[in-house]
Amino acid sequence: MSTVIITGASMGIGRALALAWADEKATLILSARGRQALDEVAAEVAARGARAVVVPGDVTDEEHRVDLVRHAVDHGGIDVLINNAGRGFYSPATKIDIQQLRDLFELNVVAPLRLVQLAAPHLERARGTVVMMSSVAGVVAAPKYAAYAASKFALEAIAMSLRSELAAVGVRVVVIRPGPVDTPFREHATRAEGMVGYDAPDPKAQPADVVARKTVRAVLRGTPVVETSNFVRVASATGRYAPSVLRFALRRMAVK
Ligand SMILES: NC(=O)c1ccc[n+]([C@@H]2O[C@H](COP(=O)([O-])OP(=O)(O)OC[C@H]3O[C@@H](n4cnc5c(N)ncnc54)[C@H](OP(=O)(O)O)[C@@H]3O)[C@@H](O)[C@H]2O)c1
Repeated sequence: MSTVIITGASMGIGRALALAWADEKATLILSARGRQALDEVAAEVAARGARAVVVPGDVTDEEHRVDLVRHAVDHGGIDVLINNAGRGFYSPATKIDIQQLRDLFELNVVAPLRLVQLAAPHLERARGTVVMMSSVAGVVAAPKYAAYAASKFALEAIAMSLRSELAAVGVRVVVIRPGPVDTPFREHATRAEGMVGYDAPDPKAQPADVVARKTVRAVLRGTPVVETSNFVRVASATGRYAPSVLRFALRRMAVK
């Protein structure tokens, strides 16, 4: 039976991932700052006949990261590490607060990399899988998304490099690229002063459980990159094959 670490497991995509892995009867090691919400997810996991260990803490804190890996090892090793915890950031590039940018990188970039470093020997033993929860913003930087997109581009770069390094020891790296997903993500995002955009319910928002099921399937099949919706596939392909069309569309978005 697999042991799966999920960060940001208390709500949104992370909660959906916990439930999807519970259906695979995995043992789950769940991390987020809020204990009560994590306990509720653990109860839902138990109701599906799987086991969840709750490890509350902040993934930007090294002590918590070490603790998380230790809990997983105590429960049988690490088959899958899912770096899902993350935050949005909406600001024109010229107004990005640099301390807030550093904080964002601690969560969206440094924490996933450190967890991979700490988990690597155990993943190697299990010939396991690292999952990086990226975004369409990992390949397209829309206006007011400079900070968030920079963090997800960085995560994609780490994932690409890691994939080649870890292939030799049998560890896979899976990148998931969702577009808008129906979660409280927008409410939690950092915003530049006076930034009120991107609040409306997004008609293209995908249910979190769809993203979660695609993630489980990608891990089981070893798919390197999954773009979870047509919106992401079109945006990403336009950037690659028709960059001038994408530039035109982004300029239009910027003046809206
Ligand atoms: N929703 C979208 O539209 C969308 C689209 C593309 C990609 N994504 C990516 O998907 C991932 C999950 O997003 P989501 O939509 O599920 O967001 P969410 O609903 O805001 O959930 C974020 C999760 O991360 C946890 N978290 C936040 N900061 C943390 C910290 N410092 N330490 C530990 N845990 C922390 C939160 O719990 P606590 O607050 O209790 O810590 C929560 O469980 C993120 O990486 C995001 O960038 C989301």
